[in-house]
Amino acid sequence: MQYILDTADVDFIRKAVDLYPIAGVTTNPTIVAKEKKNFKEIIRGIREAIGEDLMIHVQCLSLKAEDIVKEALYIKELAKGNVFVKIPVIPEGIKAIKLLKERNIKITATAIFTPQQALIAAMAGADYVAPYVDRLDNISADGVKVVAEIVELLKINNLETKVLAASFKNVEQVHKVCLTGVQSVTVNKDLFEKLIYHPLTEWSVNTFISDWENQYGKNKTTLDC
Ligand code: E4P
Repeated sequence: MQYILDTADVDFIRKAVDLYPIAGVTTNPTIVAKEKKNFKEIIRGIREAIGEDLMIHVQCLSLKAEDIVKEALYIKELAKGNVFVKIPVIPEGIKAIKLLKERNIKITATAIFTPQQALIAAMAGADYVAPYVDRLDNISADGVKVVAEIVELLKINNLETKVLAASFKNVEQVHKVCLTGVQSVTVNKDLFEKLIYHPLTEWSVNTFISDWENQYGKNKTTLDC
């Protein structure tokens, strides 16, 4: 299982990578634009924050296969290290995935809303396929079911492509998707902190400390007693 951060906020990424078992970072054009900074600086900043080994997924904007290939090669050079180029599953995008596979560029097929889109992208050579859970739930579809069917389809066809479930707005969506056997989830910064938070955990920790301090004194730990 891989937890990935769906943000381009370098300060948050640095903090989260220090605290949690993070496999990498995903961005998309909306996420990058939200930072209101130079694109190259953002990508270099993320790479500096996560090091060479963790993944960074960066999306192309072009709509023609040949242009997508050019953008992908540029992104690969810019982002260095362990980089995945995100390509939407439009017909020209599928062609670009086939062309880039021949050049050993790692690809995340994105903007996926149906199992057939995921299967076609996987067969074209995508390393990850990224279905959008909350955007599906918002049109009265079942995002978790779509992810479960993609996981199953890839297994049936013995494809090595991994599922990177994306677009989450609550903890329950993430949890249910994890139970489908998905290989990775990408979670935005507000939601990521909610995955680990529980009021009873906070209450328990505070109670432990106050019980301890009543007996052994303020700011004392096991090291002092
Ligand atoms: C992945 O990187 C997707 O682009 C992203 O998770 C979409 O999330 P949203 O539906 O919250 O915009």
